[in-house]
Amino acid sequence: MELNILTLCYLIGSVTFILGLKMLSNPATARKGNLIAAGGMIIAILGTIFLYEEGGQKLGNYPWIFGGIAIGTLIGFLAAKKVKMTAMPEMVSMFNGMGGACAALISIVEFNHLIKLAEFHPSGKGFLLIILLGLIIGSISFAGSMIAWGKLNGKVKDFSFPGQHIFNIVLLLVIVGLAAYLIGWTPANGQLIFYAIFALSLLYGVFFVFPIGGADMPVVISLLNSFTGVAAACGGFLYDNKVMLTGGILVGAAGTLLTILMCKAMNRSLANVLIGSFGGHKTAGAAGSKEQGAYKEISLSDTAVLMSYSSKVYIVPGYGLAVAQAQHACHELEKLLEAKGVEVKYAIHPVAGRMPGHMNVLLAEADVPYEKLLEMEQANDDFPATDVVLILGANDVVNPAAKTDPSSPIYGMPILDVELAKNVIVNKRSMKPGYAGIENDLFFQPKTSMLFGDAKKVLQDLIAEIKNL
Ligand code: TAP
Repeated sequence: MELNILTLCYLIGSVTFILGLKMLSNPATARKGNLIAAGGMIIAILGTIFLYEEGGQKLGNYPWIFGGIAIGTLIGFLAAKKVKMTAMPEMVSMFNGMGGACAALISIVEFNHLIKLAEFHPSGKGFLLIILLGLIIGSISFAGSMIAWGKLNGKVKDFSFPGQHIFNIVLLLVIVGLAAYLIGWTPANGQLIFYAIFALSLLYGVFFVFPIGGADMPVVISLLNSFTGVAAACGGFLYDNKVMLTGGILVGAAGTLLTILMCKAMNRSLANVLIGSFGGHKTAGAAGSKEQGAYKEISLSDTAVLMSYSSKVYIVPGYGLAVAQAQHACHELEKLLEAKGVEVKYAIHPVAGRMPGHMNVLLAEADVPYEKLLEMEQANDDFPATDVVLILGANDVVNPAAKTDPSSPIYGMPILDVELAKNVIVNKRSMKPGYAGIENDLFFQPKTSMLFGDAKKVLQDLIAEIKNL
């Protein structure tokens, strides 16, 4: 009877994961979807703790289990409450790394069980294969995510040496070779080999992420996230636990899809992301020294007049808008202009900001109606009929070098063709480059005017100017 209730708990968990994922694809339902999936997870966890039985024995160890849950919940809750929107990818990376570490720990525990049961005979080989898969993938995901976390918060610098990619391939081959030896030959020193595989996988995770350029971190995190999913699914296999298996497969599949989508949005192959060193310090230095022409500035009052007497205005949000936390001021400007009869829309580049959907989440926080957010292709079609494009803290996603300069690291990335509009106003604090570390010719074009300052302050002052007109 209890087993049936447990199966039901797992079924509810699996269904809520799928439902939650579906709802996460739309900003209007995302929050609810997250809660529903979390609810399903709680049911599955409590079901396991209280209903699971093996040989007529329950799990027990309740103080340990609930002690662990309490500490984890507290840390997770505080971290999520405290985290700034712009540091979200860092936190995702850290949490993802913990998932990988859990999968690796499960493999270590189960390997030691296997040895105790003296199951180093043919029937244990399939089990050992899954244990090793969980160990290798989980360890790579853990170590790689920690390096990605360090890179995003500036604690770890890009590091590579000549022949590193060959070194990585050899390292991976050694890991696979040792795993095959362990499974095929069941040597007497199996435990030693097992821990050697563990150590080498951690090393591989570090060297895998080390040379990848800073701007590519979100793609790498998504890839590592899919690794963690697969490693967790291995745990599901080991324990014959359906909800763990479903959850792992869903995370693995979602992470893979997201990785592919991000690569597509930047028009780059995954191989190029992994070995291209995009946004690394080398490109930053080289492009930063390039000579540029003169740029012109526009005053707040001229901007206010120009925008108030336009019929159509597009706002292009970027990473700087998130840094300035200017989303509420931005929405206020939009409402003010609309009240004056100006049509206002937002052009959303798929990789604007630092994480997938960053701008959508940011603007949703300020209650900007979802139908006002246009995807890149739609906005590009609309720009020729637009009077003013106001760029707020965006840079790379409007850089024409992506179309015109084959030597540029962002060449081939689809961008917002803002120069098709009649006027372009760029708000940022300085002439410094964006994340890719390259100059932007758009700032020097005749149609473009620079409006310098912190996005929040500039928007507040602009709103005041428009109100005074
Ligand atoms: P960026 O190219 O990084 O440019 C942001 C600009 O905002 C900077 O040039 C900065 O100039 C300005 N800024 C910073 N703080 C500001 C503030 N308080 N007020 C006003 N301006 C401020 O951003 P983007 O155009 O959004 O492009 C995103 C980049 O991240 C792309 O290279 C993309 O490929 C990369 N990336 C994103 C993702 C995802 S999923 N979103 C994934 C991988 C890579 P100042 O310092 O002069 O102010």
